[in-house]
Amino acid sequence: MPKKQRKEFQAPKGMRDLLPQDSGFWDKLIKTGEELAQDYGFQKIETPIIEDADLFIRGTGQTTDVVSKQMYFVKTAGGASLALRPEGTPGVVRAYMENGLASLPQPIKLFYFGPMFRHEQPQAGRWRQHYQFGLEVFGDSGAVLDAQIIQFCFHLFRQLGLKKINIQINSLGCPQCRPAYRRALLDYYRHRKEKVCPDCKRRLKENPLRLLDCKEEKCQPIKTQAPATVDYLCDECRKHFKEVLEFLDELELPYFLNSSLVRGLDYYTKTIFEIFWEEEGAAPGALGGGGRYDNLVKDLGGKLTPAVGVALGLDRIVELMKKEQVKISSGPNFKVFLVQLGMAGRKKCLKLFERLHQAGILAAESMSRDSIKAQMKIADKFGVKFALILGQQEALDGTVIIRDMQSGMQETVLQEKVVEELKKRFRK
Ligand code: HAM
Repeated sequence: MPKKQRKEFQAPKGMRDLLPQDSGFWDKLIKTGEELAQDYGFQKIETPIIEDADLFIRGTGQTTDVVSKQMYFVKTAGGASLALRPEGTPGVVRAYMENGLASLPQPIKLFYFGPMFRHEQPQAGRWRQHYQFGLEVFGDSGAVLDAQIIQFCFHLFRQLGLKKINIQINSLGCPQCRPAYRRALLDYYRHRKEKVCPDCKRRLKENPLRLLDCKEEKCQPIKTQAPATVDYLCDECRKHFKEVLEFLDELELPYFLNSSLVRGLDYYTKTIFEIFWEEEGAAPGALGGGGRYDNLVKDLGGKLTPAVGVALGLDRIVELMKKEQVKISSGPNFKVFLVQLGMAGRKKCLKLFERLHQAGILAAESMSRDSIKAQMKIADKFGVKFALILGQQEALDGTVIIRDMQSGMQETVLQEKVVEELKKRFRK
């Protein structure tokens, strides 16, 4: 039989491993985000990464690129039609309805973190599996919450030492005022139909708002002259938007009104925004985006419940943290190094490691190495004050040698006294 060719496995296209050399940045970002979210009164929620495909088709929107072009469908053996979540919001809405969170005192403020899946063309800052940190607030229609969500984002970036952040903001209105805007937009584009790209011709038929999303060079002059949503807002939506901007002014947060901003998801009402890094080209695309979605809970089968949220793209923020050389923790602060020799010494060292840990003395070690010389070399690299040496003899005597790494002085002490001895020396 011919020999089977050996296959070299690779991560699926557009997906990757998050490696130890970057974990300090990821840890810092997630920890800072989670702590800050809790300080702002948010509680953690986790939802499955696979949901009923219809949840996204009806929630995110059938004609959105995210659903129509980028969603990973999963067929189960039982025939259920599921999908890998392309975004977090519909799953959190489902969890809010399914778990009776609507009957608790409102607003309910939730945060989450996890992978999302979009079958996009991979490029810098764009992955088929990417990670988001999201906030969602349910049960309050006040403009102050829109502003608070944006404030959280700025606060988080500031806390990470990333200061050159600004936002683009717009209002999409509500089902009352959107039809008039839609008509004006359609009217405007119908007269220019021959001049736009094929994608825009399709958008004109399927989802006119998305015309404003077009990145084609030839559509730009038409897009910039197009009617603006803010000119068609009803009184309530105009008042809401004005209040959001007043709160942002009060907080002195830098924002730009962008009348072309529509966002790529169908559920938004009123406020929408995207967060950018100020230096052009330094970060590919938005670092985050969000907005109000006052009808989504109802559209997915719940009661009419106002809601607002945001999701931050962690992959892009980590890249930025690396580029801006954000300081991260240098890892555990080792105080001593454990050097062992022989089976008996190694056994005692394993035990001693745990005792030291319980006493709050972090010990570095290289348990698998045999030679004392090699271990002492590593101890030197760690820059610890003391090495604890445990060989065959010490294991038998119940002792351990404490070696001062600077002076080279050594002293033998009883194993049960070593924690006390070390504490004394550290105090000095
Ligand atoms: P989104 O704008 O689609 O919003 O995604 C949020 C962020 O995720 C983007 O601003 C971007 O930083 C990041 N992102 C999206 N796709 C990719 C990708 N392929 N590779 C790397 N990063 C990516 C949402 O998903 C909404 N659920 C946000 C929201 C929450 N609205 C209300 N609540």
